[in-house]
Amino acid sequence: MSKTLFIKTWGCQMNAYDSARMADVLAPLGYRPTDSADGADMVILNTCHIREKAAEKVFSELGRLRELKSERADQGQRVILAVAGCVAQAEGAEIMARAPYVDIVFGPQTYHQLPEMVDRVTRPHGGRVIRTDFPPDSKFDSLPADTAGQGVTAFLSVQEGCDKFCTFCVVPYTRGAEFSRPATSIVAEAQRLVAAGAREITLLGQNVNAYHGEAPDGTSWGLGRLIRMLADIPELARLRYTTSHPCDMDDDLIAAHATVPQLMPFLHLPVQSGSNRVLAAMNRKHDSDDYRRIVERIRAARPDLALSSDFIVGFPDEQERDFEDTLRLVDEIGFAQAYSFKYSPRPGTPAAGMIRNQIPEQVKIERLAALQDLINRQQLAYNRSFIGRTVPVLFDRRGKRQGQIMGRTPFMQSVYVHAPDRGLATIAEVTITGAHANSLSGTLAGTAAAMTLPLVPARAAAMAVEVAS
Ligand code: SAH
Ligand code: SF4
Ligand code: F3S
Repeated sequence: MSKTLFIKTWGCQMNAYDSARMADVLAPLGYRPTDSADGADMVILNTCHIREKAAEKVFSELGRLRELKSERADQGQRVILAVAGCVAQAEGAEIMARAPYVDIVFGPQTYHQLPEMVDRVTRPHGGRVIRTDFPPDSKFDSLPADTAGQGVTAFLSVQEGCDKFCTFCVVPYTRGAEFSRPATSIVAEAQRLVAAGAREITLLGQNVNAYHGEAPDGTSWGLGRLIRMLADIPELARLRYTTSHPCDMDDDLIAAHATVPQLMPFLHLPVQSGSNRVLAAMNRKHDSDDYRRIVERIRAARPDLALSSDFIVGFPDEQERDFEDTLRLVDEIGFAQAYSFKYSPRPGTPAAGMIRNQIPEQVKIERLAALQDLINRQQLAYNRSFIGRTVPVLFDRRGKRQGQIMGRTPFMQSVYVHAPDRGLATIAEVTITGAHANSLSGTLAGTAAAMTLPLVPARAAAMAVEVAS
């Protein structure tokens, strides 16, 4: 019998990938994905634990779902409610205690067991299930081969977990130890994604450039070698990877940026802080000059590479001069985009225990505003430097406005263009006419548009209109 499944996803791209795989695992049981919790037979909240508000959001969402579940029960219908992901892993017992209406709680490494968990809770007197262990068998060995496909831009997890133990971070506890998938299973999954329509694949891992998977000949491959193998797949136009740690940018991976045309000139390389004192307290295992040197090496291999990063302000005992070191680093490096966060103490992490040195909220707010102001100015300047240039854009979705489609440049900028839907899933040359901090707008470049979009030239020219904002 056909049933509906709604999955709400928070957090990083690995969680988005996991949600897609949960849908794959439940498909043989008759669950079809739906885009609303109303009327769904099963609801999964795939959660993130990286900062405080994320867990609060889960509990408030659960409050709403509790009502929905009891309304449906009054109508004689059963809704299965499950909490997955990193909050489930970290606070599973608390969820079970605080939310007795939740049927299943499971962590990121156990979702391949979902059919059995669903079977258990739907049996008479089946009870509730919590599964937050780290099973010795890898879930990747048990996931179904046929995925539903993710469209023209797809995610593919190649590595999971983290052994770095930065003192602020929950990931090593919620995702477990570092693990790399064998190269052959990754290549097979990439081939299936491409057959299902993917033209761009982003390789995922909490520490993706620490990848060291088993090679077809029994040796071990790093990420650079894996990327060269994937670049052999015809029809796969673009490859990306995220998230990387500065210490794992090895020569082979840097060389891939110079030699593999499919590898896009964009790199998200979190540095967190520009202060050596703070970096040491964070246990980042590199200082700010190490980061500068790594960026120099990558830019030598790929001069037009767009750099992105993550920053934390207000880490315990961060002094004004430490924060100034961060501003100086940003100023020197020049980022195409970057994310910045106020430090949020996470239970069980070493930095949360540095009680006396926590930074007042107001100071965090001010530092975040100053850093974001600098980053925004850099983003805007970077995006403005594209005005008048023509760049290839892979269109993968409709824009917010009627008649608009949206895609990304090789440098990861979002571009809005007025064009019909048939431009979706193609790569077309776009002349950039407008720039904002978070997006570009442009027009399809005449001849190239006629070549890549299935349109007669006259139509293409007529279409080449409008600046989006
Ligand atoms: N694996 C990635 C990032 C994981 S989390 C890496 O190693 O860089 C994504 C980002 O969230 C981090 O880069 C960091 O900037 C931020 N973050 C992690 N823990 C945090 C915390 N306790 N408070 C504030 N920001 C945090
Ligand atoms: Fe967290 Fe650090 Fe591991 Fe990144 S490298 S996931 S920030 S512990
Ligand atoms: Fe969040 Fe877990 Fe990803 S904590 S950022 S969902 S690894």
